[in-house]
Order: sequence, then structure tokens, then C-alpha cells
Amino acid sequence: MSKRICTGFILICLLLTMPACAVGAGQPAAGNVEKISNQTDGFTDVPSDAWYAGAVQYCRENGLMAGTSDTTFAPEATLTRAMLVTILWRQAEKPVVNYLMQFSDVPEGQWYSEAVRWAASETLVAGYGDGRFGTNDPITQEQLDLIFQRYTDRPVTDGIPSFDGSSKPVTRAQAAAAVMHYARLSQQGTTAGKVLVAYFSWSGNGQQMARWISEETGGELFRIVPSESYGEDFNTCADRAKDELDNGIRPELSEHIDADTMAQYDVVYLGFPVWWYDLPMPVWTFLEEYDLSGKTVIPFFSHNGSSNGANSVNRVAELAEGATVLTDRALSLRGSNVADSETEVKDWAKEFSR
Ligand SMILES: Cc1cc2nc3c(=O)[nH]c(=O)nc-3n(C[C@H](O)[C@H](O)[C@H](O)COP(=O)(O)O)c2cc1C
Repeated sequence: MSKRICTGFILICLLLTMPACAVGAGQPAAGNVEKISNQTDGFTDVPSDAWYAGAVQYCRENGLMAGTSDTTFAPEATLTRAMLVTILWRQAEKPVVNYLMQFSDVPEGQWYSEAVRWAASETLVAGYGDGRFGTNDPITQEQLDLIFQRYTDRPVTDGIPSFDGSSKPVTRAQAAAAVMHYARLSQQGTTAGKVLVAYFSWSGNGQQMARWISEETGGELFRIVPSESYGEDFNTCADRAKDELDNGIRPELSEHIDADTMAQYDVVYLGFPVWWYDLPMPVWTFLEEYDLSGKTVIPFFSHNGSSNGANSVNRVAELAEGATVLTDRALSLRGSNVADSETEVKDWAKEFSR
């Protein structure tokens, strides 16, 4: 049988057994990494692949930050000192404190009054020393760092793009990320290792699983993105994937984690779809790029029939040199079941942090 006919045969087999989501109907329609929903939660200015998309989603879901309108979040806009304190107050579940308000620019009865009163009582904010709080001034990176240092010694602002602790104003995206990091670092406890949830996903199943794992473990999300998109067309994607696998091609990636940051992770949940009974080649690139020795790597994948992962899970073990890869405990889900599997995914993820 010629290679072309053989490829066509496998494709037909895959297509026949593939869930609707992978080829069109329903959810991520022949989608791709770039296409997995274009925006977060209906905000037209928050692309789902933006570094802050998860943080915006976290803040919105937890009632900490709303949009600037029904459809916009304004990630690059600044926020005032009153706004930041109000976000932190909401995160602390809106405590009401008996504390004499000292700031001349914080009148009673404003939306931020209770929040500032609480923050002052906790010595999170001290004001300017001239009797003012600076209600409407943009919060600076330095000030935000200081506030969080009073809360915790955890590296809440580490890794936030363009955040250097200077006197530049904080953007709403940066604030959302800091707030989410704070919550997650607190959640991780002191003994649990630092967790990374890295994943490659073409039509969205792996991305959904990764988000749940991150929610459960407090792990930081990292999406493996090939520089050259696989496009939206299934056949084009399948042909290229096959060619890359057959020829050992490692596609270049467009997102990277610096070595120092990677060194801090102890546990890496690694997600992918089964592609041609193996690991998609962008994941090979990822595994070969980093030194994962000493880390625990926990695979999770979705498939459309190859429920044992075919060669993919052992491939992870082969490529993650020096890491402990928990091949026997990998999570396998059929792609069409992913949407209904939040509890299963979270229960599975929880097992490793006990
Ligand atoms: C190029 C390609 C090859 C695939 N090969 C397989 C396979 O060998 N075995 C299998 O069970 N599913 C295969 N599938 C189906 C995917 O593994 C499945 O749809 C998965 O849930 C997609 O995950 P994602 O949405 O995170 O990309 C393949 C899909 C594509 C696009």
C-alpha cells in the first residue's frame, strides 16, 4: 500500500471514530490552538491565548474584578489605588472593621470606603503621610509589591510580563495576575511543590483539562504554542502532524519559559492529544528544550480511541530525561467526554498533592 493510501486509510479511521468536536460540530470545531475560543468570557479585548486570560477569568469568576463594560476588560488600562484595595478587600471576603478612617480623600459611603478602612486597619496601606490616601491615583508597581509583601513573602509578582517593581502604573492585566498568583500561592501550602501545568491542544480538549488542573492545584498554566500554526483544517493539520512524526521534525515554539523559572517547578502536569498514536511533535520540542531532571511529570491526554495513549505516554518518559514520569497514573479521557469531566479531572489532579 502506498504511503498516501495508508495515510488516507488511517485518516478515515480517525475521522470515523473521532468525536464531533474534532471535526466540526458542537464545540471546538476543527479548531486549533489559535482558535480555541477567541476571547475570554465574552471580553472582546481578552484573547484566550493572552498571558493574562486565565487571570481575568479567575478574577471575574471570583467576583474580584468586573469588566470596564459588558464586553471589555481593558487589560492595558491602569487602575486606581482605591480600585486595587477594593479588589483585595473582595478577595478577603469584604470584612467590615471598626476603624477610624483617617484619610481626607476617602469620604464615608463610597464604593471603596469600607475597603480602604479595612486595608488601613490591616496596615496594608499607609497613605501618603499628608492625610491623603491617594484614592484616584494610579497604583504603581512598587506600591502593589509593597502591599503584597505586607500580606505574604511569596513571589506574587514574579513572572508577570513588564512588571519590574518600578514607579510605572500597574495595568489591569498585571493586577489580575498578581491577585490570582496570590490566591494560588496561598492555596499551595508550604510543603507542596511548585506546580506547572503545561499543555498542547489543537481543538481545546486539552486546554479545558489543563485549566481544571490548574484550578485544583494552583499550578501555573503554560500553553505550548508552535510558531507556525497548524491551521484550522483537519486534513492539513493531520498531514503535517504525520509528516513531522515520520521525519522527526521538531516544530519551533513561540512561547518559552526561562530556565530559572523552570528550575523552580517541582511538578509538571503535561497535557496533549494523542496524534497518530504518538505524542504531537510540539510536545517533543517542549520536552527537549527544558531540563526536567528531578521533577515529577504527570501526563494527561485526550484521544479518540487510543485510550491507553498508544506510544504517547512512554514517549514522554523517554524524552523527559531525569524526570520521574508517572506513566501509570496518566489521565486519559476521550475527547468527546472532556466537557463533562470537570470532577474527574479535579479529583485526579488532587491525588498528587496529598
Ligand atoms: C492530527 C491528529 C491526529 C490524531 N490521532 C489520533 C490517534 O492516533 N488516536 C486517537 O485516539 N485520536 C487521535 N486524534 C484525536 C485527538 O487525540 C482527540 O480529538 C483529542 O481529544 C484532541 O485534543 P485537543 O482538543 O486538546 O487537541 C488525532 C487528532 C488529530 C488532529
